[in-house]
This record gives sequence, C-alpha cells and structure tokens, in this order.
Amino acid sequence: MTNAPAKISIGDKTVEAPVRSGTIGPDVVDIRKLYGQTGAFTFDPGFMSTAACESGLTYIDGDEGILLHRGYPIGQLAEQSSFLEVCYLLLNGELPSKGELDTFTRTITRHTMVHEQLSTFYRGFRRDAHPMAIMCGVVGALSAFYHDSTDIADPEQRRIASHRLIAKMPTIAAMAYKYSVGQPFVYPDNKLSYTGNFLKMTFGVPAEEYVVHPAIEAAMDRIFILHADHEQNASTSTVRLAGSSGANPFACIAAGIACLWGPAHGGANEAALNMLREIGTPDRIPHYIARAKDKNDPFRLMGFGHRVYKNYDPRATVMQQTLREVFDALKLKDPVFDVALQLEEMALNDPYFIEKKLFPNVDFYSGVILSAIGFPTEMFTVLFALARTVGWVAQWNEMISDPEQKIGRPRQLYTGPVQRDYVAIDKR
Ligand code: ACO
Repeated sequence: MTNAPAKISIGDKTVEAPVRSGTIGPDVVDIRKLYGQTGAFTFDPGFMSTAACESGLTYIDGDEGILLHRGYPIGQLAEQSSFLEVCYLLLNGELPSKGELDTFTRTITRHTMVHEQLSTFYRGFRRDAHPMAIMCGVVGALSAFYHDSTDIADPEQRRIASHRLIAKMPTIAAMAYKYSVGQPFVYPDNKLSYTGNFLKMTFGVPAEEYVVHPAIEAAMDRIFILHADHEQNASTSTVRLAGSSGANPFACIAAGIACLWGPAHGGANEAALNMLREIGTPDRIPHYIARAKDKNDPFRLMGFGHRVYKNYDPRATVMQQTLREVFDALKLKDPVFDVALQLEEMALNDPYFIEKKLFPNVDFYSGVILSAIGFPTEMFTVLFALARTVGWVAQWNEMISDPEQKIGRPRQLYTGPVQRDYVAIDKR
C-alpha cells in the first residue's frame, strides 16, 4: 500500500512530499525536494525528528525497550550468540552457518597482529595520555600502514579493511593500556578466542602464564555484544558523515572514536560508577534520590534515563545479570553492588522516575562490572570503542554500497550580519 503524501504549505505554496514506510518504526516524510520546490530548508539541530539515512542494521523502539540487530532481539543474541557471530551478522545481514562462522573466525584471528612499526607510535605519547587520545591517533594512523585496503570503491578492499579494524582493535586497545601502566606489549595469542585474547593482551605479562577466566571471558564477550551497534547515534553518524566524502575507513573510524570520547556519549558509565561509589552505602540512597528530584540541585542519577529509551534499556537487563555472574565468579563483595541494586529498585518505585519514564540505561551497571574485572575507568570508553567498531564499519559499508549515497552536507539558518562593506583599519 502506498502512503498518502504529506502536504507542506509555506506561504502561498503547497507541495507534496512522499511518505515512506520502513519494515517497522515511524514513517518518514521525504523532504529531499523541499528546498528545490519551495526555497525553504527544514531546521532540526540534534536530529530530533530527522532520519539521516536508510538502514537495515539495527532497530530501536525506545517506548517498548526493544533493540534488534538484523531483526534479532539483543537479549537473545547476548544469551545465545558470541561477539564474533554478532559481528558476522551485522556485516553480512544473516547469522552464519557453522562453516561460515569458522571461516570468519579464522579470518579475524589472522588479522590480530599490528604492523610492528605501529608500536613506535605509542612511544611518542606521554605515559599519562588518556587511552582514548591514543586510540584516536593510532587508529587514524592505520591508513598509513594498510594502503592496500583504502580504496573504498573496491568491495574486496572494504571487506579487508572491515576485518582488519575488528581484528586489530583489541590489540590496539590493549597496547594503549599496557603503555599507560608501563608494561611490555603482549602479542596476540591466536589459540585464544577473540575476547580471551583481548583479556590476555590486557592483563597478561610475559613473565607469567596467563589463564583466561571462563566466566570473565563470557561476561566480556557479552558486554561487547551489548555495545556492538546502536543505530544512528552520534559516533555512528560521525563515521557516516566522514565516510560520505570518500575518506578511507581507518580515518572514518578514528573520527567515530573521537566523537565517542565525549562525556555525553561514551563517558556515562564512568560517571555512574563514581556516583555509586560516592553513595557508598544503601542507607544514603534516599538522600541521593531526593537530590535527583530537586529542581534546584543539578545532580542527576547517572545511568538513568535515555534520549531514545523511555522504558527499561534492554541492554541494562543483560548487564544486571552479567554483574551478578561476575561477582559470583570472582567471589567479590563490594558495597557498590548492593547500592546499585537497591538504588535501581527505589528509583523504579518512585513516582518522579515513573512519571518521567526514567529507567536504568546500559551504563548503570557496566562501570561496576568493568571495574570488578580490573579495568581502570579511563579504559571504559576504549572498550566501548572496541565493541562499537563492528557497528561503525557495518554502517559505513552500508552507506558506501547505497546507490543513493551523497556527501553529507547539512544547511543552516544563517543569523550573522547581512552583507556590508569592508572598512579600512584606520577608519574602524
Ligand atoms: N536523574 C534525574 N532526573 C532526570 C534524569 C536523571 N538521570 N534524566 C532525566 N531527568 C529528568 C530531567 O530533569 C527532565 O525533567 P523535567 O522534564 O522536569 O525538566 C526530564 O527527566 C527529561 O530529561 P531530559 O534531560 O530532557 O531528557 P533527554 O532525553 O534530553 O536526556 C539523558 C537523556 C541525557 C540520558 C538524561 O536522562 C541524563 O542526563 N541521564 C543521566 C546521564 C546518563 O546516564 N547518560 C547515559 C545515556 S546512555 C548512553 O549514552 C550510552
């Protein structure tokens, strides 16, 4: 069934704009010809009502708390799949057969090493550099090392670049960590799983054998799945915009990393963990809830609320379960765990949070888990970047293959001075 077009009236002109439907989700009004027909632009800073592209990768229904990758619910993927299988799914559109997954795993595993000269880049950074600063620099530098996969018009080169990025990101992230703590870089060990290998490169040292803890490996793999893609968020849109000019994939992913670093995007889990530590004990929770509700206090419950989810973030459900598993496996007793659970329960039963539809988001529990595993807070966003790389490259590939793709070029509402004549310096 075709939709009735939208009618847009501006002054004495009325034009019709096609209304397009996706497979699920809101319809979109296609206003691409609006400027040509009326001379007017639309104004939507922050993209509150604007779909910037067509995509078949990820679907979010924020009211219902649904997140689907290629149609599969995130809960099912987190429970039953593996990170590399989700990577295959995002890149190729379908779940792999056993043979396809084996081949994909072998391919990714073969690309885990980085060019030896890349390690000299690290030595140029200060030891106390933020690991995200290092990630921006080193990932951007990959285009100087892998010239044979920078021709974006060649699908085979795009495929190789995608595999290289997914495979090398754990190595690059672990090296950033090792550099910051002054320990030697640990080479990849291809006997291990993708996630086990990352844990070894991060926490292993050459002097001792490193044994991957299966519960930690499983938890980490699940955390990677939960962060693999999230539709057209700020960093993904950055990757698409950078890629729309024909920039090479390594440069585009470096742009995505730079955007993710911002505290409003990838940095909230650190803030949530700090808040839980500051609360300290369950008896102090009511005081913090009262502060969050007080209009005169800027304090907000970190890890609560989301621009898109107006229901429980489905990723937070899995995170809570993962938190329990990690604490059980490591036999940890940390008051932060009880504070988190009780804070969630109290907030969910409080009319303020119910009315405003404020639920825990993915960041509420992830900082507690990552800290329990042993990661310092500066590494949290790096882990996010590692996992999100597959989403970025899948979205970038989708964009390049789209026959309607154009360079991204937003317009503006100009509010500066109107034309005026230059005044010589002695007359000003
Ligand atoms: N604690 C207390 N009150 C809150 C919270 C919170 N965490 N979040 C929103 N509110 C209130 C606001 O004060 C506002 O109240 P009002 O209508 O009376 O003014 C109302 O709920 C709506 O809030 P907005 O900020 O307008 O909602 P928006 O969709 O713009 O913000 C955001 C979403 C930024 C995530 C917000 O909920 C927030 O600041 N949360 C805490 C930070 C956080 O956890 N960020 C991680 C997001 S997930 C991610 O990026 C991966």
